[in-house]
Order: sequence, then structure tokens, then C-alpha cells
Amino acid sequence: MAMSAGPLLAALLLPALLLSAASAADSTNNPADQLVSLVNSNRTASKASSLSDNQGLGCIALQYIKAYQGQCSDVRDKKPPESSFAEKFAPDCGVQVATLSKITGRLVACQSKYPSPPEALDILVNDAKDLQVLHSKNHTEIGVAVSGTDGGGPYFWCVLFSGGKPATSFKVDGEVPKTAMHPGCFSGNNDDCAGPSPTNGAVPTIAGASRLVAALLFVMACALAL
Ligand SMILES: *[C@@H]1O[C@H](CO)[C@@H](O)[C@H](O)[C@H]1NC(C)=O
Ligand SMILES: *[C@@H]1O[C@H](CO)[C@@H](O)[C@H](O)[C@H]1NC(C)=O
Repeated sequence: MAMSAGPLLAALLLPALLLSAASAADSTNNPADQLVSLVNSNRTASKASSLSDNQGLGCIALQYIKAYQGQCSDVRDKKPPESSFAEKFAPDCGVQVATLSKITGRLVACQSKYPSPPEALDILVNDAKDLQVLHSKNHTEIGVAVSGTDGGGPYFWCVLFSGGKPATSFKVDGEVPKTAMHPGCFSGNNDDCAGPSPTNGAVPTIAGASRLVAALLFVMACALAL
């Protein structure tokens, strides 16, 4: 009896390790999730809180970008009307309108050449006012989107901050509709979303396959344990 505990434990632990490796691959393979990590480490380095990555808000950030209709030069002095959140962005994302929370800050940038997440942070934050938005204590959650990654520029990045309660705000009914997910990438949806680099193409399949294998191993290990 005691002898079988070792292999059994290994059989149970291995899939767990594989699973965590697979989910880590998710967020490293999505430029929007990478920007969330950069924002959070930048905030914690200046004693501000780490923000919760909200999928509904991330999806809304992508619709916010789409509202510019590719007009790069508009990001400096134009904003979509506030009413678009309730009338267009939330419904398009499957976000329950009643759960929309106050937007406490936004950073938007656009350029013709794709900036990687670290470059994007520098472009998004270019003066003292932007830095105040980045470090504001009013935020509790964040949603990030990038577009233009599916076939040429211009490349838009959008960061939306909110002061809502992460567990109950920007709640998605079921799943985010496919039409709201493309073209582009947004944070918090646990989705592989390659940036424009051609080498990114192979990674989602490998991550997906290893997750499947890990899940199968886990099921087998559970069956053996019974
Ligand atoms: C935070 O980001 C801003 C804007 O990119 C940058 O100037 C600053 O050096 C960053 N701080 C840290 C600690 O990385
Ligand atoms: C935080 O919220 C308060 C109250 O709405 C506002 O006056 C202040 O400007 C905000 N701070 C930042 C950095 O946005």
C-alpha cells in the first residue's frame, strides 16, 4: 500500500505541473496580457496596487479601438461618446449593461509600426498626466486591447481602467461573442492571441495540445486513484 503512494502522487502532480505550464503559455502569448503585467509591475514599483485583469473590460477596450475605424490621428483629441459603452461596446461583448462601472482612466495610442508591449507602454505614457493615470489609486481593474495584429497597421493600443468591483463589474453573459474578439487581441480572456510576429503562429497549437494531454493524464490519474 505504502509503495504505491509515490508513483500515484507523481501521477497526480505531473498533470498539475503541465496544466500550470499550459496556462502560463496563454498569457505570455497574448500581447494584451503582457501589457497588463507590465502596467502592474510598473504600479507596484511605485507603491500602487496591482489591478485585476477584467475580461469584459478588455473586450470593451477592443471595441473602443474599433470605434476609431482605423483613424490613427484621431486618438489624440477624439474619444468615442460615453453613451457607446452602454449602447454598443457592452452589448457587442456580451457584457451586462447593468454591470458597467466607472471608467477611471484611459490611455490610447496608435502608430503605423507595431510596438511590442514594452514599447507600447512608453508610447501610451508620454507625459506627467499619463503617468498620473497609470499610477492612480482610483483604479481597481484594467482591460487592455491591441488591434492591427491580424494583417497590417495601423496598430492601436487601448488601456481602460475602472474603479469597479472586479468580481461583479463588466460581467460577461456566457462567453464573449467571436465577432467581438477579432480582429485584435484583448486581455483577461485566457486566449492565445498572437501578435504580428510570424514565429508566434506555432505556439497556440502546442499549448492547446499539452493542455489536452494534461487533462487526459489527470482524468486517468483520477480513475487510477479510485
Ligand atoms: C513606468 O512606466 C513609465 C512609462 O513607460 C516609465 O517612464 C517608468 O520608468 C516606469 N517605471 C518603472 C519602475 O518601470
Ligand atoms: C481620482 O478620483 C477623484 C474623484 O473622482 C478625482 O478628483 C481625481 O482626479 C482622481 N485621480 C486621478 C489620478 O485620476
